[in-house]
Amino acid sequence: MVSEARVLIAPSVLSANFSDLGRQVQEVTEAGADLIHVDVMDGVFVPTISFDEVVVDAIRANTDVPLNIHLMVQEPENLLSTFAKVETDQILVHAEACRHLRSTVSRIKDMGNQVGVAINPDTLVSEVEEVLPMLDIVMVMSVVPGASGQPFIPESLDKIRLLKRIIDKAGYMAQIEVDGGIKADCTAKESVKAGATILVAGSAIFNDRESIPDAMKRMRGCILG
Ligand code: DX5
Ligand code: ZN
Repeated sequence: MVSEARVLIAPSVLSANFSDLGRQVQEVTEAGADLIHVDVMDGVFVPTISFDEVVVDAIRANTDVPLNIHLMVQEPENLLSTFAKVETDQILVHAEACRHLRSTVSRIKDMGNQVGVAINPDTLVSEVEEVLPMLDIVMVMSVVPGASGQPFIPESLDKIRLLKRIIDKAGYMAQIEVDGGIKADCTAKESVKAGATILVAGSAIFNDRESIPDAMKRMRGCILG
């Protein structure tokens, strides 16, 4: 059994209905979202383009929980002033996308934001180890970044376990976040068991099968059960 306070749910608005975005953000906030996961895609680091800061501002205007901003953009250092505008937001960059990862992480910290580094399914944990002591969040991508609704890659659990061992042994503060293919089933349960304390969930929360509150309740129940 995992204590509710320990695991945060971060619904990803990439799966939301964009014609009703403001209301969906309000609804998921009322349903108990701990963070709102915001996927910014540039069409270079990943093949698709999602949205820019105008939409991020609109999301922020409809919630009082911190945004967990996932920058799937090449050289995110050029866009930090655009997206790291509000100190309570968390900024996540990709290890593969930064020219100088350590200095990008430092810059985000200097701006007053919590900072996270994400690694793709094909990227080794060793790529992020050097900056791990500086991080608030390390994020394991459990799908290839670029789209919601993909199946969870089971090998991601080994990466979460390895990160947890390193973090615990060294006494680092970083939380482990997992992004991609998380459902209210063994993917959520096993991720938490492996050491993840922030779960991103897109299509599991925003879908046509159930209401947002019901989906949130099921996800929470699955983590606790
Ligand atoms: C994928 C994005 C994810 C995505 C998750 O590139 O980073 O945040 O929205 O969606 P699901 O939970 O449907 O895999
Ligand atoms: Zn994401």
